[in-house]
Amino acid sequence: MTTATAGPERDREKSRVFLENMTNIMNGGALSLMMSIGHKTGLFDTMSTMAAATPADIATAAGLQERYVREWLAALTAGAVVEHDADMGTYVLPPEHAGLLTRAAGPLNLTTYCQYVSLLGQVEDDVIEAFRNGGGVPYDRYPQFQTLMAESSWQRLGDSLIDHVLPLLPEGDAPLVAGIDVADVGCGSGRALNLMAATYPNSRFVGFDIAEAALERGRADAAAAGSTNITFVARDAAALDEPPSFDLITSFDAVHDQAHPDRMLAGVFAALRPGGSYLCVEPKASSHLHENLEMPMAPLMYTISTMHCMTVSLAYGGEGLGTAWGEQLAIEKLTKAGFVDITVAGNKHDRSNHYLICRKP
Ligand SMILES: C[S@@+](CC[C@H](N)C(=O)[O-])C[C@H]1O[C@@H](n2cnc3c(N)ncnc32)[C@H](O)[C@@H]1O
Repeated sequence: MTTATAGPERDREKSRVFLENMTNIMNGGALSLMMSIGHKTGLFDTMSTMAAATPADIATAAGLQERYVREWLAALTAGAVVEHDADMGTYVLPPEHAGLLTRAAGPLNLTTYCQYVSLLGQVEDDVIEAFRNGGGVPYDRYPQFQTLMAESSWQRLGDSLIDHVLPLLPEGDAPLVAGIDVADVGCGSGRALNLMAATYPNSRFVGFDIAEAALERGRADAAAAGSTNITFVARDAAALDEPPSFDLITSFDAVHDQAHPDRMLAGVFAALRPGGSYLCVEPKASSHLHENLEMPMAPLMYTISTMHCMTVSLAYGGEGLGTAWGEQLAIEKLTKAGFVDITVAGNKHDRSNHYLICRKP
């Protein structure tokens, strides 16, 4: 015979609120996949140019299969993303929604980030294995990561790097115009570096990363742009081993997922000429969880950390800083590496990162 044990008394209202929260979590997770598909297939871009239309017309305009488009529209109608006229059998994407869902929305296009949900879902079993036995999930388990990273970081930086970010440097972009040596560490596909190389022909640029495929893309983009002042080098950031030969070093979202961030920062410091600047762009967060809870995308940030940023670091025997290592710890590590005059700035075109700027004395 089993006896039911009376657990602690439950607050019924709290249970009701949590049920609502759980329902939103399940629906939000599912709809993120639909949003990702809407982005990748161009359905949001197509619908943003159309008046209310039938699934057949939308499918034709997007060059897709009607049955799939109709089911996708049903999910998005239920999710209050598109609006449906049952009498007319039509669907429309309101302009207020299109402003957050289309490529034309630029940095405001949130569907880019929805793609992380499906990307991270691919490694769920690997991450569970690491929960059980330690270690982490290496980069080669995320075949689409570099493509998505290039797309999402370009969305934040493409329009703001030259006009809003580089002016944050102590002398703005004047030294770049005159001609200096610049390195980007953890450059990925090198889109930021290629943009700088094309904008500042008198300066010389080097991108370092371990991902050969990403470096190849950077080289191809440089060749297509006709830039001859840029090179891409395969190098472990923990063993940068460059003499003091750069006036400016940048890293965009590339410290927190390093296996050995302290070695990277030491290498960056050593590679700068005296007086040189380091622009270190990292996820906007406090180092203390309780100070991040009001951030609208905090759950997404910690999820990406668990399933990518932290685990790739741990996969290589690393520190596993995590995405939200935060401003306080970043300042501590920069100071330990020898940097001075550390300031933290924002970029209104990139609300998810903070911009740490410091100098080698
Ligand atoms: C989050 S991505 C950022 C890429 C790029 N800066 C951007 O904003 O698109 C981090 C980058 O760090 C690179 N990386 C990770 N560990 C590295 C290491 N030990 N040495 C060099 N690069 C590394 C990855 O290959 C990846 O391209």
